[in-house]
Amino acid sequence: KQGINVGLLGLGTVGTGVISIIEQHQQELKHQVGCSVNVTKVLVRDLDKKRGVTVDNDILTTNPEDVCANPDIDVVIEVRGGVDETKEQLIQALEHKKHVVTANKDLMALHGAELLHLASKNGCDLFYEASVAGGIPILRSLVDGLASDRITKMMGIVNGTTNYILTKMSQEGSSYLDVLAQAQDLGFAESDPTSDVEGLDAARKMAILATLGFSMDVKLDDVSVKGISSVTDRDLHYCEQLGYTMKLIGLAKRDDDRIEVSVGPTLLPNEHPLASVHNEYNAVYVYGEAVGETMFYGPGAGSLPTATAVVSDLVTIMKNMRLGVNGHAVNAPLHEKVLKENKEIDSK
Ligand code: NDP
Ligand code: HSE
Repeated sequence: KQGINVGLLGLGTVGTGVISIIEQHQQELKHQVGCSVNVTKVLVRDLDKKRGVTVDNDILTTNPEDVCANPDIDVVIEVRGGVDETKEQLIQALEHKKHVVTANKDLMALHGAELLHLASKNGCDLFYEASVAGGIPILRSLVDGLASDRITKMMGIVNGTTNYILTKMSQEGSSYLDVLAQAQDLGFAESDPTSDVEGLDAARKMAILATLGFSMDVKLDDVSVKGISSVTDRDLHYCEQLGYTMKLIGLAKRDDDRIEVSVGPTLLPNEHPLASVHNEYNAVYVYGEAVGETMFYGPGAGSLPTATAVVSDLVTIMKNMRLGVNGHAVNAPLHEKVLKENKEIDSK
């Protein structure tokens, strides 16, 4: 076989970034995995829409089966968003034994365990690094780089849109609605930005972080959520006068077996390192019993940063395919197995 064939579900902000990276870094990819990457089918809604990248018209389709049930496709990359219909498409892809990469935190926070289980049953990889904090490789760091530690707390800015809004409102005096429109134009916001501004997007990400960081099944319903839609210019002005900066902070703590996960607007002293994380940038503090304090920082939204995480997951899959293995650390079946073994050990 000449190379790996990839099908894309979606060609919007993240999808165009994925195509750009695959095209522009073809040499680097080939060097790492020893073969070429070919994007052979792309699902879109509107076949006539002008795109930010050049793609042959004949690879575009409006029929998801052309991607998910296509015998020539090895890997499906889901960057279309949505939950129910998208879940069905990924189930079809996994049942057709395709490896899957997704950037979809809505889907992974709600149905991640089920999809990961199905992936494992079908001998497929399902990776989702881009779903949390865009270009920051935080999921790999938690379950791989910090695998030997006991993580007790995570705290961070995990939504780019709200951080962009709060930054522009406080630094430039821009109006909430104007900056929200800018964040949408720049491709940072969700198709329905309510989930950004009401804190739900950050809550989904914190549920994923807590599940992986604490090796526990943390559900979205376990997260208490408050957004920034009621924050006014005046609130920000008073904060500034008092020497504080307002940020939308996600917090996940564990104390023995008690877990607490929340998202809400928080006043940070100006000297706090998270107070100087601006615009669409994200940052996550991770506290481990052995390592102490670590901080991960980088672009949390946007086309190329997010696509970097997506294509890196693709590279891992291609390396696995070459070696004839599945999985790396971001893999619930492994995680479930460890939990089961732990329970068995505990009950002895
Ligand atoms: P966009 O809205 O820019 O793109 C969505 C793409 O999916 C479009 O190409 C659209 O087609 C296609 N699509 C949507 N619904 C359908 C449908 N029913 N049938 C066929 N095609 C469909 O979204 P983004 O690229 O911004 O986001 C994609 C995913 O990545 C989401 O899950 C998002 O949460 C996640 N994500 C986004 C980040 C960002 O910075 N934007 C960062 C991290 C994750 P058409 O173009 O024809 O309309
Ligand atoms: N809408 C999300 C954000 C995209 O603003 O952070 C990245 O997940």
